[in-house]
Amino acid sequence: MNMTGIETLRWRYNKLEMIDQRILPGRFDYIAYDCAASVAEGIRSMVVRGAPAIGCAAAYGVALEALRLREDTLAGFAEKLDLGFKSLAESRPTAVNLFWALERMRGVWASMGTAEPLQIAGRLLQEAHEISAEDIRINRAMGDFGAALLKDGARVLTHCNAGALATAGWGTALGVIRSAKAQGKQVSVIADETRPFLQGARLTAWEMVQENIPVTLITDNMSGYLMSKGEVDAVVVGTDRVAANGDVANKIGTYMVAVLARRHGIPFYVACPLSTIDRSIASGADIPIEERAPEEVSGFRDCQWAAPGVAIRNPAFDVTPADLVTGLITEKGVVLSPNSEKIAKLFSS
Ligand code: MRU
Repeated sequence: MNMTGIETLRWRYNKLEMIDQRILPGRFDYIAYDCAASVAEGIRSMVVRGAPAIGCAAAYGVALEALRLREDTLAGFAEKLDLGFKSLAESRPTAVNLFWALERMRGVWASMGTAEPLQIAGRLLQEAHEISAEDIRINRAMGDFGAALLKDGARVLTHCNAGALATAGWGTALGVIRSAKAQGKQVSVIADETRPFLQGARLTAWEMVQENIPVTLITDNMSGYLMSKGEVDAVVVGTDRVAANGDVANKIGTYMVAVLARRHGIPFYVACPLSTIDRSIASGADIPIEERAPEEVSGFRDCQWAAPGVAIRNPAFDVTPADLVTGLITEKGVVLSPNSEKIAKLFSS
């Protein structure tokens, strides 16, 4: 079903298994999860990451918790499942897909009224499967719209990893690349390394190498140079949350790339499923930005190279103002020069 061969999340023997993205590409392994708290920990520690994949994992976390509590009384089930929702909601703050998926699961639960816990658990699992399957369908649709924007031979710069690993499959930004390839276009990727967690170096490069899609890895401070040399034709990135006015939160460094793209007249596209648009937030200024551990900046894993005691900032995301965005690529089509009116219209048609 996934069609990339990369199954970021899979359901096996009544457990959720997720590829451990912290150890790629050196090792490829799955970790199994059996309750909401353990899935929340998997999200927090970035075993799974990427906005849509986090949403899918959270949905499975709810289903696992419901299955775990299936023999409880209805009151006990409700009280404990609620705690499961809470622990998942507290796992990471920026990607709105997490909260979108939890709200959808809560709606399904509410629609079951006073049904038996076993029945509710079954229905929640069905919904989690549906959210994942839907994610792949949406990514394929976005891919087709996005691929039409790329010319044959396009050299596309991307930041972070918005690929199969960041979704249930196919990817958002890398889904556009995969769809372009499927349409017979010879596209190539320039992958920003993406300090400090190295999603570009470790994950995007790995995904592209797996599929023989030409990919060149650069450090984050090289993109301006390549743009100034005419070596980048388009930028395509994913997003964790888009505000009602079209401001885009994405991996730290995305804003810098958008400014550079504008300076060099290069189109800057954001692959954005509707589940990533948060219409309750008027502008990017209100998007919560996760601040992660200083050790991610002072070194990598066991190797710490900065002077102990140095002050460190580690915001994991930044906000690109809507006016720097050439277009949002959604499953309903491309929204050029996004603004509040155009985004509102997306949800009314
Ligand atoms: O911290 P991460 O790795 O979860 O951040 C991921 C990103 O910023 C992605 O670009 C975004 O979630 C889009 S994934 C389709």
